[in-house]
Amino acid sequence: MKIVCRCEDVTYDDVLDAIKKGYTDIEELKRYLRCSMGTCQGRGCNRLLRQILLEQGVKEVPFTKNRPPVKPVSFFLLEDEVEEREGDENE
Ligand code: FES
Repeated sequence: MKIVCRCEDVTYDDVLDAIKKGYTDIEELKRYLRCSMGTCQGRGCNRLLRQILLEQGVKEVPFTKNRPPVKPVSFFLLEDEVEEREGDENE
């Protein structure tokens, strides 16, 4: 079993099945399989997805927009930032 998208647990066979069902546009594949929509926002799988589409005879595979990866932020950090802003406003 070859994994294409580690974040969303999408395999090579999942991608091939989706292509056989007619999802040949990279944006359609993203929405159908959630590939490239995980925490790394496609940094780990977008290139593989494009490569598979090209292997399957899709002529044009445009690049998708990259968004910053989702990173957890501690509430304590947010609380410190709010306190700093409130301190600035009171000065
Ligand atoms: S590996 Fe696909 S979204 Fe992260």
